[in-house]
Amino acid sequence: MRIDILTVLPEMVEGPLNCSILARAQRKGLAEIVVHNLRDYTTNKHRKVDDYPFGGEAGMVMQVEPIDRAISALKEQRDYDEVIFTTPDGEMFDQPMANSMSLLNNVIILCGHYKGIDYRIREHLITKEISIGDYVLTGGEIPAVVIADAIVRLIPGVIGDEQSALSDSFQDNLLAPPVYSRPAEYKGWRVPDILLSGHQARIDEWRYEQALERTRRLRPDLLE
Ligand code: ADE
Repeated sequence: MRIDILTVLPEMVEGPLNCSILARAQRKGLAEIVVHNLRDYTTNKHRKVDDYPFGGEAGMVMQVEPIDRAISALKEQRDYDEVIFTTPDGEMFDQPMANSMSLLNNVIILCGHYKGIDYRIREHLITKEISIGDYVLTGGEIPAVVIADAIVRLIPGVIGDEQSALSDSFQDNLLAPPVYSRPAEYKGWRVPDILLSGHQARIDEWRYEQALERTRRLRPDLLE
């Protein structure tokens, strides 16, 4: 899978994308994440990507031209399954959306700036608008990282033990059960006896009951 991220703040996305599991996925050739600075697609001397809005509203607007040039340059090189725009008024990102997006070959993610993007970009160039939650961030860079992280980790081979992506919270509409590691007792805080019992079938049953109980208590909406 290839993900092209278009942003005016490349340094805001490059750090997290080049760490840990995402860095390893790229080294192994399972994912390619390419960050593009929208200023590289300007034609003016000052590499300016925004201008005043028509109609006299406050704030600056990202202009259509550099974004169109960037997207067109990418589309000349390959076909894209989706051109995504990150915005708080988009479709809510969730695990089922991450699952289906992890099957795509090539996607562009345009990091939005709420209110501040010429609407023709959304009308003519964007195929999918995604929000990561009902709150407003300073820009779409962190949402782009969130989306890339959630989908790349689902690509087969990215996480060592594939089971571990399948047993995530949300994959079966259940929150994950608690996990523990050594020591079995610390400051008098004990690991549940069942996990030390060696009875795999009973342990699996306990895990399922815990998952159900935590979901009922913390996220009853998932059971509806
Ligand atoms: N840009 C600003 N806030 C956002 C959000 N919650 N989701 C996606 N993009 C955004």
